[in-house]
Amino acid sequence: MNILVTGGAGYIGSHCCLDLLNEGHDIVVIDNLCNSSYESISRVERLTGKEISFYKSDLRDKSQVELIFNTHRIEAVIHFAGYKAVGESVTNPLKYYNNNIKSTLMLLEVMTSFDCKRIIFSSSATVYSNSNKVPLKESFELSANHPYGASKFFIETILENLFVSDKSWDIVILRYFNPVGAHKSGAIGEDPQGVPNNLMPIIAQVASGKKEFLSIFGNDYDTHDGTGVRDYIHVIDLVRGHIKALEILSDLNQVLKINLGTGKGYSVYEIIESFESVSGKKIPYEITYRRSGDVATSYADISKAKKILNWESRLNLNDMCKDYWNFQLKNPEGYKK
Ligand code: NAD
Ligand code: WQD
Repeated sequence: MNILVTGGAGYIGSHCCLDLLNEGHDIVVIDNLCNSSYESISRVERLTGKEISFYKSDLRDKSQVELIFNTHRIEAVIHFAGYKAVGESVTNPLKYYNNNIKSTLMLLEVMTSFDCKRIIFSSSATVYSNSNKVPLKESFELSANHPYGASKFFIETILENLFVSDKSWDIVILRYFNPVGAHKSGAIGEDPQGVPNNLMPIIAQVASGKKEFLSIFGNDYDTHDGTGVRDYIHVIDLVRGHIKALEILSDLNQVLKINLGTGKGYSVYEIIESFESVSGKKIPYEITYRRSGDVATSYADISKAKKILNWESRLNLNDMCKDYWNFQLKNPEGYKK
């Protein structure tokens, strides 16, 4: 299939491009490189021995998106592009709404005019209301917990509205839990620009000596050891979920919403322990205040993914930490030479 991957130079997008090429798909990537580097694309090309048609363009530039659809016969779109930092979205909500919402609208308008009506969208477990019980099911209550989460919630709504207006659309919304890990070659991985906010990149920075210690946001939660529990999923498993979604992306007759997680939760202490064991490095930490908006426990109900996509995760926590650390060791400065 000829697939347009938006945000294909980013962390998850680059791993997905690798899998798509290995599966024999032709891909076109649009990425403005606002949070990534062209080096990830070059490395995917090197790993696969295949070429990617790459456009360094902003999705909000409609003429560029039209140019892509005029040049390539795009059959489906996997839409990763967007901003993703929760804290930044609180301090700069307009930046988040402008990019995440506007770029999706542009994309959907161009897809409509070129009669390309198949899309897989990267949503997030952050759309679930904090009052839900675990494991989180796709049918559970949603809420906009912060501008980033609201942007995902609105895009999900836009996609639902679009389907109601035109049933010939095939739409899969994938709600990711906590993606971590990297390709086992260590050639591609997560390369956070600026100060990272998520647990695994911060732990990797502490292990590599770039940061003195980890601040643990509370150890008095109602969990087995008091620290927050999350559903970490290896990026390789995550992108395999997209390949499965692509296989069923026709005649869906509904907007499919599917959780991509392992269905298991690990605490902050367990992540530290696993990372220390694979890296052989001590991760010093201090206990600090709870982070505003954090829940004690979040993990997925994965029965829908198993049933509809015939997909479940294969890699474990040890693989996630080992592969994340391998990328860090091989690329201490990320993609910068
Ligand atoms: P990322 O920042 O590494 O990748 C996003 C890519 O989109 C980047 O390469 C960036 O340059 C590009 N981009 C952003 N705005 C663009 C625009 N207007 N035009 C063109 N390109 C643009 O992030 P990621 O971790 O790979 O996440 C991919 C998607 O998955 C995002 O939509 C994110 O919200 C979602 N998601 C990520 C996580 C996570 O923890 N990584 C969890 C849940 C959902
Ligand atoms: C994990 C655990 C923290 C950092 C976020 C987004 C979500 C999704 C994934 C995009 C929690 C604890 C963290 C630190 C800590 N992204 N922690 N010290 O909060 O589950 O989800 O990323 O869609 O939308 O909200 O992930 O990695 O930030 O935190 O103690 O320095 O680690 O409290 O328990 P989170 P995270």
